[in-house]
Amino acid sequence: MPFVSSFAPGRVELLGNHTDYNQGVVLSAAIDLGITARGRRREDGRIVLTSDGIAGVVEAGVADLAAKDSWADYPLGVTKVLKDAGYPVGGFEAEFSSTLPPGAGLSSSAALEVSTAVLLTRIFDFAIAPLDLAKLCRKAENEFVGVSCGLLDQVSSLFGKKDHAIYLDCRAETVATIPFPHDVGLLIVHSGVKHALTGGEYNERRDQCFEAAKILGVPALRDATSAQLAAAAMPPLVKRRAAHIVGENERVFAAVDFLKQGDVAAFGRLMSDSHRSSIGNFENSTGELDALVEIAGGQPGVYGARLTGGGFGGAIVALVDLAAIDTIAQAVEAGYLQKTGNKGTAYRCLLGDGALMHG
Ligand code: GLA
Repeated sequence: MPFVSSFAPGRVELLGNHTDYNQGVVLSAAIDLGITARGRRREDGRIVLTSDGIAGVVEAGVADLAAKDSWADYPLGVTKVLKDAGYPVGGFEAEFSSTLPPGAGLSSSAALEVSTAVLLTRIFDFAIAPLDLAKLCRKAENEFVGVSCGLLDQVSSLFGKKDHAIYLDCRAETVATIPFPHDVGLLIVHSGVKHALTGGEYNERRDQCFEAAKILGVPALRDATSAQLAAAAMPPLVKRRAAHIVGENERVFAAVDFLKQGDVAAFGRLMSDSHRSSIGNFENSTGELDALVEIAGGQPGVYGARLTGGGFGGAIVALVDLAAIDTIAQAVEAGYLQKTGNKGTAYRCLLGDGALMHG
């Protein structure tokens, strides 16, 4: 059997933190770091998986797929979900290699899911509409791995477009791409403190958002306005959680206009506002992420910075003047080490193509 391959990028969330499972809006981008999968069909009904950087081989039977509490739960979950949905998936072997830093909040999980799904469409020669593929991957993460994530990561990994941001409306389930200015770059800095969504905080935040929507009497926080929220009676903690989501949706709507006008400074200010809301309202930041945002924000040529993705560790993203990106990267790494004693790692990222554009 011949080998085939796939590549699925990680993503960076630009604005719209935790809005996806509240039927809201998000701006993100696929990046030029990701996961490559290479594999081929097996005739014995076995699934045999390896990953560079992780010792050992994971084996399972395609007829008998159960979670193993391992990195392989993502590919195994995707296989099960595709099979249960009636796609002609059988035994296969695959090896994965990654350029994405794990635990940085850049969606190595979604890249693993999407690279598996695209690999399986190529090994077993079937097609799925991209949005359906994204939903099946999310289903694998929700039901097999047990994280109640929204659709942002999988959509970003699939729908990315070189030099474009992605605008996702999670209620309408529509995706659009918006050209990104050429003279600005994205500097992603990993705090070195791992982010793991399986930690439970993520699902807890989700429940608090749903509670707020229930108290407000709306189907989802997408439907709430700041004024309505301010006037409502609810536990202060729940209100702050909701304020983050409502504010993030408003910031995304404003940012889309700024992006279309090429107003990078205004876009950057919204990113910094977003981080302040993470600190004060959603409490999904950490001391390390705050230090990075503060240090980045003090550098000439930085328009704004915020945590990216789920939070509780991971990375920040800064919108920077492309001509100064190397100087900024060095200054942020050095300042972070001095302030916290931790080693941060800066990645100068390009906005890249999604998985289906990679042959
Ligand atoms: C994680 C989840 C996404 C989204 C972000 C926060 O990346 O997987 O679905 O909720 O956090 O915006």
